[in-house]
Amino acid sequence: MSGAAILGIETSCDETAAAVVLEGTQVASSVVSSQVDLHARFGGVVPEVASRAHVDLLNPVVAEALLEAGYAGPDVTAVAATVGPGLVGALLVGVSAAKAFALAWAVPFVGVNHLEAHLYAAFLEEPDLSPPLVLLLVSGGHTLLVSMDDHLKYRLLGSTIDDAAGEAFDKVARFLGLPYPGGPAIDSLAVEGDPTAIAFPRAMRDEGYDFSFSGLKTSVVNYVRKHPDVSVADVAASFQEAVVDVLVTKARRAAREVGAQGLCLAGGVAANSSLRERILDACIADGLRAFLPSRSLCTDNAAMVAAAGHWRLESDGATPLECGAFPNLRLPVG
Ligand code: KG4
Ligand code: ZN
Repeated sequence: MSGAAILGIETSCDETAAAVVLEGTQVASSVVSSQVDLHARFGGVVPEVASRAHVDLLNPVVAEALLEAGYAGPDVTAVAATVGPGLVGALLVGVSAAKAFALAWAVPFVGVNHLEAHLYAAFLEEPDLSPPLVLLLVSGGHTLLVSMDDHLKYRLLGSTIDDAAGEAFDKVARFLGLPYPGGPAIDSLAVEGDPTAIAFPRAMRDEGYDFSFSGLKTSVVNYVRKHPDVSVADVAASFQEAVVDVLVTKARRAAREVGAQGLCLAGGVAANSSLRERILDACIADGLRAFLPSRSLCTDNAAMVAAAGHWRLESDGATPLECGAFPNLRLPVG
């Protein structure tokens, strides 16, 4: 597929994003319009507010992405959009727009799995990145440990049995009275705290590859209720330390057991400073390559959607225009 320029569109949650990616790896433009301010006063994403904001923002965001990349709409090779998982109303805005663009410009439409898109973020910055890899996908809705044996071929090693890692960050931050979204707030407050101050539990750390974070959240709540004068920075740092310890221990063990050459982070929580530092240290110690996409590619964006769309178009061809949105879509694992 020479000269492929894919327009990616992402509207699965609270970021309205569009990007143009060349050859599946080169980001020609990536525009993200965050709705964080709109949802902050509610302490979380309000689905109906998100859908309406996507309707208002999508056309200008797409226009900006095309302009920045120097492409006229009909000159793109294909239009890829996230079809799931996510909020159904939000997804439908991006999917409908992408299908309309594809039809108007007579180019293929490609439906993209948001989880697969997160996994492909790392390929945008590491041209020589290739499977076999172990990927740790940690976002607001998912926590997956995946072995990527070949392009688009995954084996699920483990996932969360209750809360996702990002969800735990957001819930604990909310309990501590920190601003929304909670992950970045805990990340910056933790710098001022002592990560060894409180020994929070590390559920299932040394057994299997599944995760559990809801007990940790309860344990933070109980501790703070019992010790109302505790330093909030110490709680943030100790909580973050517990999450990172479990994630890094399991990812490292998985990489060793499957004989991966590298360990790759993906998803919004992969923007966490402590997680990035500890994965890097673990990889150096174990002789593995560490792939840490830049923070803007870890959180929701459309460049990763275009990248995954590139590989999917090559392997599966165009997605039929009858395709809808799939709020509970899973990663296609073998
Ligand atoms: O991947 P993402 O942007 O959206 C989903 O697909 O869920 O991930 C959002 C999640 C939120 O839970 C947010 O609090 C978390 O990623 N997050 C972080 C950081 N930045 C974003 N968690 C910890 N540390 C961060 N620096
Ligand atoms: Zn995401």
